[in-house]
Amino acid sequence: MKITLLPGDGIGPEIVTATVKVMDAAAKKFGFALEYDHQLLGGCAIDAYNDPYPEVTQKSAKAADAVLLGAVGGPKWDNVDPSIRPEKGLLRIRKDLGLYCNLRPMKVSKFTAHLSPLKPERVENTDLLIVRELTGGIYFGTHNEAAMVDGVETASDVDLYTRPEVERIARKAFEAAKVRRGKVTSVDKANVLAESRMWRRIVTEMQAKEYPEIELNHLYVDNCAMQLVLNPGQFDVVLTNNIFGDILSDEASVLGGSIGLLPSASLGDGTGLYEPIHGSAPDIAGQGIANPTGTILSAAMLFRYSLDQQAAADAVEAAVDKVYEAGYRTADLFGEGMTKVNTQEMGELVAKALLEA
Ligand code: NAD
Ligand code: IPM
Ligand code: MN
Repeated sequence: MKITLLPGDGIGPEIVTATVKVMDAAAKKFGFALEYDHQLLGGCAIDAYNDPYPEVTQKSAKAADAVLLGAVGGPKWDNVDPSIRPEKGLLRIRKDLGLYCNLRPMKVSKFTAHLSPLKPERVENTDLLIVRELTGGIYFGTHNEAAMVDGVETASDVDLYTRPEVERIARKAFEAAKVRRGKVTSVDKANVLAESRMWRRIVTEMQAKEYPEIELNHLYVDNCAMQLVLNPGQFDVVLTNNIFGDILSDEASVLGGSIGLLPSASLGDGTGLYEPIHGSAPDIAGQGIANPTGTILSAAMLFRYSLDQQAAADAVEAAVDKVYEAGYRTADLFGEGMTKVNTQEMGELVAKALLEA
């Protein structure tokens, strides 16, 4: 099976290298072959091609069975033209592959709950799935960069959704809830935004007509942000738009102790893309200390959703648990009584646990 690897920038290459060790171990154990094609996306692609999503990367991704991405961006490219920023490369690949559905699962592990910024008893039961719309909304509406309008410097971004876009992502959330705890919380800002009022109306209609067995509630995004730290256990599936999903998933990620733990799958009708939810972490890049767990768990999602290798997916997740249970931690989660390991050691330990299971 062909995997396009897009290590990207900052800690991206470090966490992807560690994850490939785990993927190779899984392939060996479960008897399938993985063929990797390394390509450039983001800042490194700007340096090489003056384009954050060059054609050779496009071709590779489209021909692959799945794409694994590290992260893109960094201060080096903060002042390039907005149309070729590293992040623009990421937005383009998402759009190009039609990846409208971003799944960000967040389950607090009993091995890290005590490292949460919240009291452990508050986060222990957290097991939620953020279903984030990924190819629409304010990220993809018309952007007017700052310019003089009637003598005043002005900039704008249009927050636009169409009914089919809302329906297809809502359907993913309802279907996900069916095989979880049967609850969807739709998050919007319907008290202010027209886009949100349409979103809420469509989601409500769909629940009544097609998913009466699913419990649906609606929260304004500001209240949701507060509820996530007050009582995260109330959430099962959280359905939301592109920008709210971005913000709420960083907030949710840290309930388990570190943003470095959270994986994601971006799905559409073609090739799926898998990446941790965090960024390129320029502040720790090159030091070999980044936590690769979110990327390793993204590889598990890749096995599950793109390669139909369920046993391999389960085995990767079980191996991660085993390594955490044994007390190994990267710097972000290191504490008393733990054994500190670097990025590559974490990858090797998970690979070893997988092979020994
Ligand atoms: P970030 O997620 O890169 O970092 C936020 C904080 O979390 C930093 O202190 C960082 O050290 C820490 N952190 C992140 N991942 C970690 C890991 N695996 N292990 C340990 N600590 C980790 O967010 P930022 O600093 O706001 O953004 C940096 C760059 O990354 C920007 O250019 C941004 O646009 C980009 N970005 C890219 C993606 C992506 O590629 N999907 C996602 C988010 C941000
Ligand atoms: C993420 C990132 C991206 C987003 C950026 C880098 C474009 O923050 O994947 O969460 O906002 O979607
Ligand atoms: Mn983000």
